[in-house]
Amino acid sequence: MNDLKGRHFLTLQDFSAQQIESILELAIELKTRQKEGLPRHLLKGKTLAMIFQKPSTRTRVSFEVGMLQLGGHALFLSSGELQIGRGEPVKDTAAVLSRYVDGIMIRTSEHSEVEELAHYATVPVINGLTNLLHPCQALSDLLTIKEKLGYLQGVKIAYVGDGNNVAHSLLLGCSKMGMSISVGAPEGYHPQTEITNLAKENADASGGSVKVLVEPAEAVKDAQVIYTDVWASMGQEMEKSFRKDKFGAYQVNEKLLSLAAPDAIVMHCLPAYREEEISTQVLEGEHSVVLDQAENRLHAQKALLTLIL
Ligand code: CP
Ligand code: NVA
Repeated sequence: MNDLKGRHFLTLQDFSAQQIESILELAIELKTRQKEGLPRHLLKGKTLAMIFQKPSTRTRVSFEVGMLQLGGHALFLSSGELQIGRGEPVKDTAAVLSRYVDGIMIRTSEHSEVEELAHYATVPVINGLTNLLHPCQALSDLLTIKEKLGYLQGVKIAYVGDGNNVAHSLLLGCSKMGMSISVGAPEGYHPQTEITNLAKENADASGGSVKVLVEPAEAVKDAQVIYTDVWASMGQEMEKSFRKDKFGAYQVNEKLLSLAAPDAIVMHCLPAYREEEISTQVLEGEHSVVLDQAENRLHAQKALLTLIL
């Protein structure tokens, strides 16, 4: 039975481990079917509106192609071209779009804007990244780890770098699934306490664990998965050089990788900045699964769309 129909997807925190597992199972099935040349038109005639207030390569293309492969259609709406960019309230945009489309995906800065959109929309709303969270990324990351390692419960993952939106969703997703997650981030750049506390509660219930540390070497010790993301996120471009100094010791390189489990996989949500948060050697090396991870955005989101729309 599908209990996800009509649900918004704003944060993984709103979903049980069982529900996340059901999305991952469907993603694996849809991926196999697509690769066999047997696409399933599970969303025939359905339309997804995609509002982008920030740039995107993966999110835009994977949602657009995903809807097409499912027999539906996606509309790319950049905020500069929408009336929202001229001051039409989010409330009215939500209500009006709900009369035309079957779902709305939005990428924006303020998380409260996505919550407001979801409040006034009568169709499911998907969070395509806010300053606080990036749940579609974490969903695809869980799919990738499950594929590569064969299981999630008990997997030891280390996130090294800025305690940002990607780190937040990873903390929530991994802790829900019974994984042990360690974050290694400089003082002042730790994940938000509220998110860490939620993750700790999740871990208490799931049998996982959550640690937030300062030393990257301590975070990656024996890790089966090492994950990093940019040091300056979209909207923080002005801080880029300052952050580069702050985060120098947090680069994922051969030296840091040597402290992890011997067959550890290396993940990055992309886009990556070579020789900043990750060395070229590691990003393009044999431990890296970043391209499979990027591909899985397509499959995980197709499963999500199929279940909620
Ligand atoms: N990982 C990710 O969300 O990539 P885009 O910014 O290209 O969508
Ligand atoms: N933390 C990054 C993720 C990009 C996909 C950002 O928000 O820019």
